[in-house]
Amino acid sequence: MEKSRILIIDDDPNLRKTLSDILKVKGYEAFAAENGEKALAFLRANPVDLLLIDLALPDMSGLDVLSKAKTDFPAMAAIILTGNATIESAVEATKQGACSYLMKPYDIEQLVDNIRRAIGKPHADLKIITVYNPLGGMGTTTIAVNLATCLAGNNAKVALIDLNLFSGDVATFLNLNPAYTLSSVTKNISRIDSSFIMSVMTRHSSGMHVLTEPLEVDECSDITPEQISHILNTFRDVFSHVIIDTGGYIAGCNTAVFEASNTILYNTVMNLPSLKNTKRYIAGLEKNGFMKGKVKLLVNRYTQRADISIEEAEKVLNWKVFHTIPNEYKEVVESINNGVPIVSLYPRSAVSKAIVNLSELLK
Ligand SMILES: Nc1ncnc2c1ncn2[C@@H]1O[C@H](COP(=O)(O)OP(=O)(O)O)[C@@H](O)[C@H]1O
Ligand SMILES: [Mg+2]
Repeated sequence: MEKSRILIIDDDPNLRKTLSDILKVKGYEAFAAENGEKALAFLRANPVDLLLIDLALPDMSGLDVLSKAKTDFPAMAAIILTGNATIESAVEATKQGACSYLMKPYDIEQLVDNIRRAIGKPHADLKIITVYNPLGGMGTTTIAVNLATCLAGNNAKVALIDLNLFSGDVATFLNLNPAYTLSSVTKNISRIDSSFIMSVMTRHSSGMHVLTEPLEVDECSDITPEQISHILNTFRDVFSHVIIDTGGYIAGCNTAVFEASNTILYNTVMNLPSLKNTKRYIAGLEKNGFMKGKVKLLVNRYTQRADISIEEAEKVLNWKVFHTIPNEYKEVVESINNGVPIVSLYPRSAVSKAIVNLSELLK
């Protein structure tokens, strides 16, 4: 998904650097130019959504840059930043089509607020995809980790969260050693914003950012559904996709997760006990109001030679199978033991192809 693009036009190199770093953390794509001429040349080749213009530039006035830029790109938004505000320049800026006018030194949150009002959030259409099976051993973590890796490889801004609070495996599957975990976030819940979130998440080589379960099990019981909702909401500022790996009951933090999710991928395998549990949990999800178009049934370790066919399973469950992932034990185990997602380790394997297809369907 495309990110909103912002061009900073200011002759102060420190300000250009700091501001573009902050805007990148906030999820925007940021560029910078040191004077009016360079800014206009950049714009001709690379249109942007918003200009942040200093009023006093070395070669021309910020208002001239604005009026020239608006001639070529009338829909482009602009915010004027100045250390030297006058009523005349503010009136002129508004006439030229500036959305707002801020005095330096400005408060960063105030600037970000103004940017949002002008061009919206960087990823207003965040997709939250939860991969869920109440019990373990069905390949839920395998699918969550590989789905997130696929999406991250497609230029999406991806977060992967391990909500198996008492038995998380994501860090192991990705060979990560996180310095901070979910409890670092929940303990600081009153001061979390997108910059804080980015500073505590662990970056994986695929480009995705990972948040894992607390290191100490006794910290897990303190995590509340309200905290999870709050964290997911903050993610809207930074990410385009959030993948959640979870298990356990339809209660507590899972309720918050299911409510926030756009898609719940209910992952199962085709054997009698798993199908029996799937039927019970589908009924549970329905009773709790989560079925309305959200829950999609995924069959992992699928083989055509199985005793139970897809058609039979669909009949018993009264639910359509959304997608299947083939059984490929040797490759999957090798990928887990090496801490490398199978989509990276064996991109041509049948499992990898099926997960790429799945990511296309959910993009
Ligand atoms: N598509 C697959 N084919 C073969 N084996 C698989 C597949 N997906 C998962 N597995 C195996 O299932 C086991 C459990 O996988 P895991 O992702 O940890 O499941 P869960 O998160 O549901 O506990 C692993 O040993 C893994 O090798
Ligand atoms: Mg797991």
